Amino acid sequence: MTTIEFSNELKWGAATASYQIEGAAHEDGRSPSIWDTFSHTPGNVKNGDHGDQACNSYHLYKEDIQHLKELGVDLYRFSISWSRVMPEGTGSLNEKGVAYYRSLIEELLNHNIKPMITLYHWDLPQTLQDRGGWENRATIVAFEEYAEAMFKEFGGQVKSWITINEPWCASFLSNYLGIHAPGKKDLQAAVDVSHHLLTAHGKAVQSFREIVPDGEIGYAPNIGWLEPFSADVEDQDACRRGMLWQKEWFMDPVFKGSYPEELILLFEKQNAFLKIEEGDLELISQPIDFMGINYYTGSLGRHQENAGLFQVEEIPLDYRQTDIGWPIYADGFYKALTDLKETYGDIPIYITENGACYNHGVEDGKVNDQERIDYLKQHLTSLYRAIKAGVSIKGYIVWSLLDNFEWAEGYEKRFGIIHVNFETFERTRKESYYWYKNTIEKQRFEIT
Ligand code: FCB
Repeated sequence: MTTIEFSNELKWGAATASYQIEGAAHEDGRSPSIWDTFSHTPGNVKNGDHGDQACNSYHLYKEDIQHLKELGVDLYRFSISWSRVMPEGTGSLNEKGVAYYRSLIEELLNHNIKPMITLYHWDLPQTLQDRGGWENRATIVAFEEYAEAMFKEFGGQVKSWITINEPWCASFLSNYLGIHAPGKKDLQAAVDVSHHLLTAHGKAVQSFREIVPDGEIGYAPNIGWLEPFSADVEDQDACRRGMLWQKEWFMDPVFKGSYPEELILLFEKQNAFLKIEEGDLELISQPIDFMGINYYTGSLGRHQENAGLFQVEEIPLDYRQTDIGWPIYADGFYKALTDLKETYGDIPIYITENGACYNHGVEDGKVNDQERIDYLKQHLTSLYRAIKAGVSIKGYIVWSLLDNFEWAEGYEKRFGIIHVNFETFERTRKESYYWYKNTIEKQRFEIT
């Protein structure tokens, strides 16, 4: 038996996002976001699912916080629905929306749980999308206004903030691959959106320093890991290109103040041009306090002429996948983390998301999700190895507290450590909840 033991400094958490859990889509002055529009357009989301009710957490947040409390987490990462607090996208605040988050924050603090707020977890107000959304630089200004308003409202109590969740998904997955809202398939749009998201991040960081000088702020890019299939130069190159797209494109501007030249040229060959205005890169590359990393999957990568823009074909390493079809590659987590330190230096990191999709149901009042426990053990072991290798890890935040609306996959795909019945909204703690609780309590777990 091997014991993996963490130091007391590591903070533990659980995460959710507004559109995925809140529901109450038409209540108390919330206006539609791009995810309301997208999910209500037939063909976009499996089974025609949408977030109108989701987990009904808007009404059940006290119960959810009770689950967090008993879990023993140090922090709860949630996101604010922009269109709930600022229905026009800019301008006046919706008091009822603001009051909801105020109560949520108070309830967390009363239970000694630190709130960590994500400002943008993909639910752009539809009214801004109607004016071009993230393709339009005006949305950068709108985001700054929204961010400032939130810092002013909540910055006194909330000290940990994340500007943008997974800018790769919000740009390329949503505007080039067309899989997420707003569902475009236009490389130029995606390149514009990626740069505007990062610029908006920079604007928010700038305001944060003035309004919440004693707080910490970062962003949460997602990365996977592509391990070259062979020593063949072509395979090595294909993986490098694949990683450039996920990693360097979204991290070089922040930590080095430039975009990777190779990718700029590759996009240009497809007639998509990076348009940078004066001052953008200075804004984007302002120092941040931590990097949030969302890690789920990785695989081997092999050069393949017809495999998309980057000509990299992904081959699962050992053929095990979670129920969403993502290959399990825990070693890639270790590799990604140590590689980040090598590339960008000693930046403090929160693992802002890590977890697994398994669709177990409730049987005799129990949810036996041993596979999720195994996944968490493997990934926490990789995290432990990364800490031993000198990577500064501030915290680990599991995705997700609750089964929820899994974007284009709807409600079928379950990531929670708590099961949710989407008809009755009943919550049932899974075995993984109890395993995680025990791990947090003891700061260690055993591998047998
Ligand atoms: C990430 C998202 C999160 C959730 C997980 C499974 O890409 O940030 O909202 O859907 O994947």
